[in-house]
Amino acid sequence: MNILITGACGHIGSYIAENIFKINKVKKVYLVDDLKHGKINTLFNSKKKNKLKFFICDVSKKNSLNFLKNIKVVIHLASLTNAAGSFRIKKQMYKNNLECFRNVINFCKKNKSKLIHISSTSVYGKQADIVDEDSGQKFLNPQSPYADIKLIEEKILEKEKKKLKFVTFRFGTIAGISKGMRFHTAVNKFCLNAVLNLPIQVYSTALNQYRPYLSLTDAFKIFKFCIEKNLFNNQVYNALSGNFTVNQIINKIRKHKKKLKIKFIKSEIMNQLSYHVSNSKLKEAGLNLNNNLEKDIRNTLSLLRNI
Ligand SMILES: NC(=O)c1ccc[n+]([C@@H]2O[C@H](COP(=O)([O-])OP(=O)(O)OC[C@H]3O[C@@H](n4cnc5c(N)ncnc54)[C@H](O)[C@@H]3O)[C@@H](O)[C@H]2O)c1
Repeated sequence: MNILITGACGHIGSYIAENIFKINKVKKVYLVDDLKHGKINTLFNSKKKNKLKFFICDVSKKNSLNFLKNIKVVIHLASLTNAAGSFRIKKQMYKNNLECFRNVINFCKKNKSKLIHISSTSVYGKQADIVDEDSGQKFLNPQSPYADIKLIEEKILEKEKKKLKFVTFRFGTIAGISKGMRFHTAVNKFCLNAVLNLPIQVYSTALNQYRPYLSLTDAFKIFKFCIEKNLFNNQVYNALSGNFTVNQIINKIRKHKKKLKIKFIKSEIMNQLSYHVSNSKLKEAGLNLNNNLEKDIRNTLSLLRNI
């Protein structure tokens, strides 16, 4: 089967592009990215066996994907993704992400392609012991424009569910290295600051709040599982390796770097909420994720060690 990955030069896309030969039945892989935020160097030295074909393409432009045919599965990752920064570029983010999303849906409907949609666990936002996919509307309370867009996308898919086959995964914050990795998400940013002897900036409410994290290797397992098992049942699944507090993450970093400076800061995104996200639904579907966060932190620190 042929696969299309939008936003292929980003943190997640570049990892999938590098490892896609591990997914059975994949024949050709079409990659698109507008390169405004992604970088072509993520594709340097790509392996021939991945059978990649890259195109510069702004997915937010109507009909921009029309040149592609015979695509069985679309992994849609093209988005602006800085949640904390999304307050500053609100209008641009709504426009870019929702226009990309609508074009991808139209493409899937027209070509009968199945869609893997990546939402975020940041759609949750209520104080709760544990939240799951069926917790109901009152637990869905996005705390940033970024998260609000994710929820809008989920609602659009809900309306379109008779017209296309899809699956939505609500990813926890990604940890782990890839050629296109970014450093505006918690674990990576903390590791970078630790290596540079800069203060690790923690939202002043966040130290003991639980949040879900997803190891990039676990994220890849999800894509592999979904494609190989044909898990396109128009359902929403939480996807996480584990729930951790910021303090627990910092202690994992401290195992490798003893002296850390911590600075408490304020942010528009911070709140008083703490919640665990349940991953039982994905387990029941047959996929167990291991918690590789320790390894991700070790690898990230090692990657940065000589700078
Ligand atoms: N990284 C995380 O922690 C995380 C967590 C939950 C969900 N997600 C979601 O997973 C998806 C991928 O995330 P990521 O971490 O790889 O993000 P990323 O920012 O690293 O990559 C996104 C890519 O999309 C591209 N892009 C943006 N607008 C585009 C457009 N109009 N046309 C073509 N390409 C465009 C960018 O150039 C970039 O290469 C996003 O939807 C993101 O919201 C990520």
